[in-house]
Amino acid sequence: MSVVLVTGASRGIGRAIVERFAREDATVIACARGQAGLDALKASLPQVECRACDMRDGDAVDALARDVLAQHGAVDLLVNNAGAFRPGGIAGEDDGALLDMLQANLFGAYRLTRRLLPKMVERRSGMVLNVCSTASIAAYPNGGSYSIAKHALYGFSRNLREEMKPHGVRVVALLPGATLTASWDGVPLPPERLMPAADVAEMAWAAWSLSARTVVEDILMRPQLGDIGEADFP
Ligand SMILES: NC(=O)c1ccc[n+]([C@@H]2O[C@H](COP(=O)([O-])OP(=O)(O)OC[C@H]3O[C@@H](n4cnc5c(N)ncnc54)[C@H](OP(=O)(O)O)[C@@H]3O)[C@@H](O)[C@H]2O)c1
Repeated sequence: MSVVLVTGASRGIGRAIVERFAREDATVIACARGQAGLDALKASLPQVECRACDMRDGDAVDALARDVLAQHGAVDLLVNNAGAFRPGGIAGEDDGALLDMLQANLFGAYRLTRRLLPKMVERRSGMVLNVCSTASIAAYPNGGSYSIAKHALYGFSRNLREEMKPHGVRVVALLPGATLTASWDGVPLPPERLMPAADVAEMAWAAWSLSARTVVEDILMRPQLGDIGEADFP
């Protein structure tokens, strides 16, 4: 049975990925910071293993990796999904914004991946799937530090893929556009304008379910009407 570890898994895209993989023959481990969200997840999917971890805290990430490896031996699929969005342009955002966004969207993914990779390399199998964003490849006037951090996560994914090619470990960059989650709470848009998180999760499953001889390098997804723009706020 495959062991799948999903970060940022109690809501939104992470939770949809957990729900998708829980339907398959997989041991699913879900992590998030808040215990209440994990308890709610556990209540609806008792077979999912839930672990509290703040991905911005290096020691907590190390402990998570240690515990999971001690219990399961290795992780077959790591989904680095935890992240946070803070709007704001580079000129106007505060001095701490860049570090904040890098900690929330990059450092934990980098660290956890490094802790779990040795076992993947030893077994010559495994997958790392990083939940990037259309903000990883596009520039926006208000992209700011969030977009910088997501570009970095995409760069991490591409470099890791090259590095892991000889070792049989596949690296997937998933780049969703606007997806209906709590990240959009308070934004006056009709829900139909955004992608359902279940669609994003379906693509993660599709990438994982292919043969080990194939890697889906990039999964770029947008709402059918395209990116949210000024026309959406007349
Ligand atoms: N929604 C979109 O339109 C969209 C588009 C492109 C990319 N993305 C990316 O997709 C990912 C998920 O976004 P989402 O919209 O699903 O977010 P969300 O609904 O806000 O859910 C975020 C999840 O991550 C957890 N989390 C947040 N910070 C964490 C941390 N430091 N350590 C561990 N867990 C953490 C949250 O639980 P706790 O608060 O309890 O920790 C929650 O389970 C993010 O990386 C985001 O940048 C989203």
